[in-house]
Amino acid sequence: MPAGFQQLGGETLTGTFVLSVFTAVLGSLEFGYNIGVINAPQKMIEKDYNATWVHRYGEPIPAGTLTSLWSLSVAIFSIGGMLSSFCVGFISEWLGRRKAMLINNLFAFIGGSLMGLSKLCRSFEMMILGRFVIGAYCGLASGLTPMYVGEIAPTSLRGALGTLHQLAIVTGILIAQVFGLEALLGSEDLWPILLSLTVVPTVLQMALLPFCPESPRFLYIVRCQEHHAKRGLRRLTGRQDVGDMLAEMKEEKRKMDMERKVSILELFRSPLYRQPIFISILLQLSQQLSGINAVSQGDFYYSTSIFMKAGVQSPVYATIGAGVVNCAFTVVSLFLVERMGRRTLHMLGLGGMCICAVIMTTALVLLETVPWMSYISMLAIFGFVAFFEIGPGPIPWFFVAELFSQGPRPAAMAVAGFSNWTANFIIGMCFQYVASLCGPYVFLIFAALLLFFLIFTFFRVPETRGKTFDQIASNFHQHSAGGMMDMDMDMDMDLDKPST
Ligand code: GLC
Repeated sequence: MPAGFQQLGGETLTGTFVLSVFTAVLGSLEFGYNIGVINAPQKMIEKDYNATWVHRYGEPIPAGTLTSLWSLSVAIFSIGGMLSSFCVGFISEWLGRRKAMLINNLFAFIGGSLMGLSKLCRSFEMMILGRFVIGAYCGLASGLTPMYVGEIAPTSLRGALGTLHQLAIVTGILIAQVFGLEALLGSEDLWPILLSLTVVPTVLQMALLPFCPESPRFLYIVRCQEHHAKRGLRRLTGRQDVGDMLAEMKEEKRKMDMERKVSILELFRSPLYRQPIFISILLQLSQQLSGINAVSQGDFYYSTSIFMKAGVQSPVYATIGAGVVNCAFTVVSLFLVERMGRRTLHMLGLGGMCICAVIMTTALVLLETVPWMSYISMLAIFGFVAFFEIGPGPIPWFFVAELFSQGPRPAAMAVAGFSNWTANFIIGMCFQYVASLCGPYVFLIFAALLLFFLIFTFFRVPETRGKTFDQIASNFHQHSAGGMMDMDMDMDMDLDKPST
């Protein structure tokens, strides 16, 4: 083995490969940073919104207006993500994966600058626009990163490397939560710096991307550039002879050339793709409708009082605690995903979350009469977050890229990303209202949804571990003519057989 190469899971990883994955997931880190950054400085930013209002109109901002402006500042991030994630397919085919990531950084620059300068310019409009633009950046990054990493990863490590996208997201969230402490950057004067720090990974990614090869699968199968694809493969693998990999791509290309170009509509119309796109959408929904962002993000609707009763004085520390659990269990998933498979881990995660949601409800209902229930509910929150990161956090992101071959992949990533962002937006908008209607029983809604997704995964989601893209797609193709029920059961068994 040449010097400087690392052996992992039987695969030799070159410096170029490690650099390429690292550079790509900087986009995920930035995505996470912007998810986590907005909660801690809420009061400070609101103060500045008020100061702007006083400066403009000579009177304090009405409470209702302030609430609306703040809600808009938070929610518009998801709207930016929704819109841009829908364009992932078109942009990644037009520019290629690498150039698309490079150009996406423009959004991060513009968004970061607008937010960072909004205090100085006394403009909450700039802040809101900045959140929209950075949301658009994140929407594209949430599709481009898993697509690029999935395409360059060796088959046997595709799941573990795919999990790095989520690991970078949760790391970004944690960094934002720590920097957002009032003693650090979450203060009245420094919050603009906190928000504009998002340009740091941008600069790094822009500096490193030119050293990363474009996805050879894209170059060969889509652009028909065999020579460039070969060079990329050699750089990524460190091998001179890449004939076997090229042969596998050739086979995928041969099949793709026989099909028409796959548009988003085609995904739903064609019996070949209907099943995998349905699975992809449901997996994204299982991630967002699990309620993760209602429990671990936001202003800790219930958690604040739970943690205070359990003796945690400041909810900020509870948020950071959840952030640490997030990271730790994503690492656990990273090590398990190639051993236990996607299906098993996803089901384990959903099942665990469902049980934690029931415990949380019970403990919350009993909280007034049995004081030590606060500890139980605290444990249930951490358990909920931990189980999320075992499966429903990381798996849906990279699973879509695995379910589709090169032709339909970009359109599928767009549909899946859009479903994820839309569900995220809906939960963000509705949770508070539903929670005030249902009280602690609101978590039973999530428990029921989790149970549904668990049953769905059991019956419908195939195992993709160790299979090439072509093998996975072929399984769907083979069975697309058969009955739905037979097809899935068969496919699970087919896909469970080790790859030859
Ligand atoms: C996933 C979700 C995101 C969530 C995060 C928390 O990446 O897509 O909405 O905030 O996990 O861990």
